[in-house]
Amino acid sequence: MRRQKYWWTGIVTALVAIVVGCTTQPNPSGTPTSPATDNGEQVVNLYSSRHYDTDRSLYDNFTEQTGITVNLVEAKGDELIERIKSEGANSPADVYITVDAGMLWRAQEAEVLQPIASEVLDDKVPEYLRDPEGHWFGLSKRARVIVYNTETVSPDELSTYEDLADPKWQGRLIVRSSNNIYNQSLVGSILAANGEEATEEWVKGIVENFARPPEGNDTAQIRAVADGVADVALANSYYMARLANSSDPEERSIAEKVDMFFPNQDDRGTHVNISGIGVAANAPHRENAIQFIEYLVSPEAQVIFAKGNNEFPVVDGVDLDNPYLEKYAAFKEDTLNAAVFGKNNAEALKIMDRAGWK
Ligand SMILES: [Fe+2]
Repeated sequence: MRRQKYWWTGIVTALVAIVVGCTTQPNPSGTPTSPATDNGEQVVNLYSSRHYDTDRSLYDNFTEQTGITVNLVEAKGDELIERIKSEGANSPADVYITVDAGMLWRAQEAEVLQPIASEVLDDKVPEYLRDPEGHWFGLSKRARVIVYNTETVSPDELSTYEDLADPKWQGRLIVRSSNNIYNQSLVGSILAANGEEATEEWVKGIVENFARPPEGNDTAQIRAVADGVADVALANSYYMARLANSSDPEERSIAEKVDMFFPNQDDRGTHVNISGIGVAANAPHRENAIQFIEYLVSPEAQVIFAKGNNEFPVVDGVDLDNPYLEKYAAFKEDTLNAAVFGKNNAEALKIMDRAGWK
């Protein structure tokens, strides 16, 4: 009897070990397993909603330089926040990386990030592209530009975001749905610049000018402008650069029919958002996490964001190694702190909803 009991205990222990092993450490397929420090291996567990192929080379280079293995879990920004929350004190997450400052703000509000102090980050990341308390830091910039059909629109006709609400654009404008955070952050920035009443008027004007109800992502808007469905669209700069730099001639031909216009150059500058990162609240490998973030603002990593994913670096003076982006790089950007997009998000959504921006 006694012997049999020990036998069962052994089986149960082994099963528990397998289950624990399978549920606490992230791997590329997104299945969590335990942090791999038990055998002395140095790791950093990365929860990412960035979905760009070139990011893998950033992680590989970091591992090569430091010996720290990057374990990757990929999901949508909101899903990862929920996951870190539900994992609680035992979460294996070391860093959270996402697109749009609005999503970083949500992560901060959900208390899944911790503030860190880093002289390297304070020195390299401009103040308006990071949380004043150090919960998150911008890694790359994306401008929300006006994409226009070069056959039907002259750049002289374009000026500001505000002007897109003018009746002269009636039936000529397209933009993706209001449930997309890029548009919510843009409206948040307009709230900060112009106040509630003017923003509500602006959003109403934008909706009245739609050539069709919102559908598709930013690339779909650019394609539709090239096809003559509309004359102007709002899109993030890297979608345009991605088409222009594509190895597919069909995609390059789309980019040849349209161009990017950077609005508000004579006043506050073009709305710029970030892809960014923060250290998870209960990071088991906090020092590795900070080292990883500091690597991502090194010149070598910053050029990968520009060359590989057509985003603008956050660090000044980095060679873009991307001729298409270089043509536009000198634009004036709105230096409103990116945290404001998050703070204004709820109000922006209400306004878009009231105005019927689907
Ligand atoms: Fe995107």
